[in-house]
Amino acid sequence: MWKGKTVILGVTGGIACYKAAALCSKLAQKGAEVRVIMTESATKFVAPLTFQTLSRHHVMVDTFDEKDASVVSHIDWADSADLVVVAPATANMLAKMAHGLADDMLSTTLLATTAPILVAPAMNVHMYTHPAVQANMQTLLERGVRFVEPGVGQLACGYVGKGRLAEPEEIMLVIDQMLHPSQPLRGRRVLVTAGGTVERIDPVRYITNDSSGKMGYAIAEAARDMGAEVTLVSAKTAIDPPTGVEVVRVVSTKDMLHAVQERFSHTDIFIKAAAVADYRPAETADRKIKKKAETLTLELVKNPDILQWLGENKRAGQLVVGFAAETNDGEQHALDKVRRKKSDLLVLNDVTIPGAGFGTDTNLVRIYDANGLVQALPMMGKRAVAEKLLELVAGRLQASGGSEA
Ligand code: PMT
Repeated sequence: MWKGKTVILGVTGGIACYKAAALCSKLAQKGAEVRVIMTESATKFVAPLTFQTLSRHHVMVDTFDEKDASVVSHIDWADSADLVVVAPATANMLAKMAHGLADDMLSTTLLATTAPILVAPAMNVHMYTHPAVQANMQTLLERGVRFVEPGVGQLACGYVGKGRLAEPEEIMLVIDQMLHPSQPLRGRRVLVTAGGTVERIDPVRYITNDSSGKMGYAIAEAARDMGAEVTLVSAKTAIDPPTGVEVVRVVSTKDMLHAVQERFSHTDIFIKAAAVADYRPAETADRKIKKKAETLTLELVKNPDILQWLGENKRAGQLVVGFAAETNDGEQHALDKVRRKKSDLLVLNDVTIPGAGFGTDTNLVRIYDANGLVQALPMMGKRAVAEKLLELVAGRLQASGGSEA
């Protein structure tokens, strides 16, 4: 996603340098071209070789360490950048930036670049709250520099307070926004359901299904990256939710219905990727059911249909997307579901195809509306499926008159 983007990572001298290595690795994994500039003091905490290995580029420390005689390094690097990130940023580096000092490779490059700048400070709590540091940050803010605020917690110096470098995941979110300023879902509120609902039989047994949550989680993550404010209503899964989204844990279909209904009025887009139990035990035993007779009959009652409820209650400007996990006659079932449940779009996955449906990292889907097939996608990663689906959703919302909020 970030191929073709050059990010300069400036690392200054603080214990949080070790977290900058994780940030560097994440940037490289995203496909960005990463070039690292360290201050002398940063090299006391982490060796340049660490960043060289992670970024696959030589690391600049000394302004005069010119490796290529045809260019002036700090100008060449400054010009190549789509974004400059300083993480961790010490009080000293903030002061240099605010006052236009250029006495090392990083501060000189920062002065020479016209690229946007993101700064993630990290320092002792008293240093952070010092009026000089706050004034320098204010100056930089006024000049358009963006900040990722430090977190509150146990600091390496022994104090507890504000000053910890923000987590690499949080910094990555802001980098993403800064590298991709045009986000088609900016200002939209998206609710995604994911995972498999659980219907209790007794304290030790339940009915559920094979959903891993991967499809819904990929949609939540992609919606977040496209600028939306995302709520992920998650039933049973074994994976970690994406950062930067509100996560609401639910167990049963009824819990999921309530979570969705509570957020109904302030949500623009609903995407129901969860695998929801159509039936639940008529009664849940409060003690373990004991083995007695040769057969045991479990009476099941119908669960409320959340997608249908959304379809029937949605108002102008809201858009509802359902999924259908089918094993046979997929198109027929998909068309029946999209019409009967009054959803705007329905994503069909045939779960008998290897690489599609439950638990896989890929999916093979066809997207329908009430008139028929809208788009057939090839087998692709769930994240890529999510992006294609959300592009379609954003296009529909815009076409229906709802411009970006
Ligand atoms: O989680 P993964 O392992 O990544 O797998 C992804 C997936 C296969 C679960 C996903 O791609 C998918 O197909 N989800 C929908 C599964 C499903 O429940 O399909 P369904 O045909 O039974 O239901 C149709 C739609 O109605 C779904 O959007 C479902 O969320 C919704 N529904 C169903 C029953 C019910 N009581 N309430 C509902 O809202």
